Amino acid sequence: MEIITTLEAVKARCKELKKQGKTIALVPTMGYLHEGHLSLIGKARELADIVVVSRFVNPTQFAPNEDLDAYPNDPNHDRNVTEKAGTDILFEPLASAMYAEDHGTWVEVPELAKVLCGVTRPIHFRGVCTVVTKLFNLIHPDFACFGEKDYQQLTIIRRMVRDLNVDVEIVGCPLVREEDGLAMSSRNAYLTKEERALVPHIRKGLLLLAEKAKQGETSAKNLQNFFAEYIKENIPAARIDYCSMVDKDNLESLETLKDKAVIAVAVYVGKARLLDNILISK
Ligand code: PAJ
Repeated sequence: MEIITTLEAVKARCKELKKQGKTIALVPTMGYLHEGHLSLIGKARELADIVVVSRFVNPTQFAPNEDLDAYPNDPNHDRNVTEKAGTDILFEPLASAMYAEDHGTWVEVPELAKVLCGVTRPIHFRGVCTVVTKLFNLIHPDFACFGEKDYQQLTIIRRMVRDLNVDVEIVGCPLVREEDGLAMSSRNAYLTKEERALVPHIRKGLLLLAEKAKQGETSAKNLQNFFAEYIKENIPAARIDYCSMVDKDNLESLETLKDKAVIAVAVYVGKARLLDNILISK
């Protein structure tokens, strides 16, 4: 595995590989890698000749009050597991190289970025879209893999690529869970032992909503209330940021379940803000 840290070097290397006729799949990450990330690398390995993983804690997607400085970091672990997973190039740029001091150009998908996580994190997706565009421009991947765990992010990236005619195929990958159902996340590291024992209830609550929907419940309000009660009972210290039933393609809020929908949730537990989602149908 090659480790590349400069923008010039990654650009030159990827250009050379493409000249040789190789296809490239990119997996953008912020490091502190777990099985969820590794499943994306596995998918990338299936898709292309060359797998590039980026590892960059992108400062522009964090608001000043958020956890940029506390974001978990373990470079040696990341290097070991990316290599074992079959990565060809690990790209680890410096923030000062990725962003000029007077950086002022942004990529935004405002309609999709103002709902769900966008309500409490209004600048988040602008940062994500901008850094992902920069990575696309440096690497020119044929494929880029994103997890369904961050369902809104995946939807926004797909829309950005469509709207701007970016020449890359976005590949959505299934959400990977711990054995007890908790969605894997680098931020799970913030949980205390006590909190960790309770948070699988987020998934359990969502599974109950899917069951309710199958039994005929179609009202988003009723499903939301049910989730709120379930969480209150089972993770008393949790605070629900949102629990929303949305269209699976355009994230439009739905009051009534017609056929299929996604229920997306964000729940604060201690220092962590945990995301999960489920596709439900009648
Ligand atoms: P990060 O949180 O490190 O996630 C990197 C990729 O891994 C994302 O596509 C995310 O959806 C996926 N992922 C995380 N947990 C997963 C899980 N349990 N199952 C499946 N996939 C999972 O998302 C980001 O970084 C950043 O916003 C980034 C896109 C790199 C831009 O900075």
